[in-house]
Amino acid sequence: MNFPDPPDNALVARLQHSLLAWHAQHGRHDLPWQHPATPYRVWVSEIMLQQTQVQTVIPYFARFMERFPDVPTLARASRDEVLALWSGLGYYARARNLHAAARRLLEQHEGELPTAQAELEALPGIGRSTAGAIRALGHGLPGVILDGNVRRVLARLFAIREWTGRGRIQRQLWTLAETLTPPEQAGTWAQAMMDLGATLCRRSQPRCPACPWQQDCVAHAQGLTDQIPAPRPKRQVPERRALFLLLADDQGHLLLERQPEAGLWGGLWTPPRFDSLDALEQWLAERGLATEPAEPVLEPFAHRFTHFLLHGEPVTRRLQSPANTVMEDNRLLWYNTGQQPPGGLPAPVQRLLEAYRRT
Ligand code: ADE
Repeated sequence: MNFPDPPDNALVARLQHSLLAWHAQHGRHDLPWQHPATPYRVWVSEIMLQQTQVQTVIPYFARFMERFPDVPTLARASRDEVLALWSGLGYYARARNLHAAARRLLEQHEGELPTAQAELEALPGIGRSTAGAIRALGHGLPGVILDGNVRRVLARLFAIREWTGRGRIQRQLWTLAETLTPPEQAGTWAQAMMDLGATLCRRSQPRCPACPWQQDCVAHAQGLTDQIPAPRPKRQVPERRALFLLLADDQGHLLLERQPEAGLWGGLWTPPRFDSLDALEQWLAERGLATEPAEPVLEPFAHRFTHFLLHGEPVTRRLQSPANTVMEDNRLLWYNTGQQPPGGLPAPVQRLLEAYRRT
């Protein structure tokens, strides 16, 4: 996919003029961190807003500022107290980083947020966009932001059809964000871009008729606003196959095996599991277990783990001789399928046993 041409000066001037005029009239001017917009308040609000909606953040921000009005107060608080005030906001690494960064600011920067982009980015939890926001909104310096809202706005404006999380697309978006930002009004610009993304150029049902950029928006012109931004492509995960031996004794009990603590489904009970039919047959032979194929024939199933997709194939067999009760140090047992399982069963195994009982 090709990149759009860089916007020419006339287009940049038009986009700047129309968005700033729109923001003056329709932007959000009464957010708590805007009054006053100190670097500290901007920093804390940006961290809170990273994964969380404005309406959720507002009361947390108020409580946080009341208890920790400045960097030294935050730095001297205990981590537990910071986490307690954060509880309910989620993504607690944000709070730990905020606290660690406050301590570093007190030690190395006299309790002030630095103005240099690189110094800001060196602090825990502050990435390129947050550093740009602190510069632009907090220090009134040139600073460029590219958060989720801005990525969506730019992807639509220039009809970038690829997933915006890709490295190549990110670099392109940063260049566009830099080109569009008027350095002398970077703070107003940053807020205007976020406001446009949050109030008009929303992920679903964008309000294009009210948008100051409607005339210049390529996605709008091409009817692509509902396809841009593109969703994250599905990751290709490796696939594995496992045979599950549903071995019944003469009373219909099924053999279950407790999984080693360290591996897949550690500590849970599953039917004996094999990579191949050969491995299954060998395992039976080693134990002197003679079997015959049996009913029911169950459907294969798939189960998604984070790092791979498991294709499970049930193999139903019946024992040809009576079973002994407990085997191999309590790692194997005969399970009466009408009773409580001996311990935890993974969800796909629960479903498998239900299917077995039903048929
Ligand atoms: N999301 C991230 N930063 C924001 C801000 N300053 N105002 C509103 N929403 C935001």
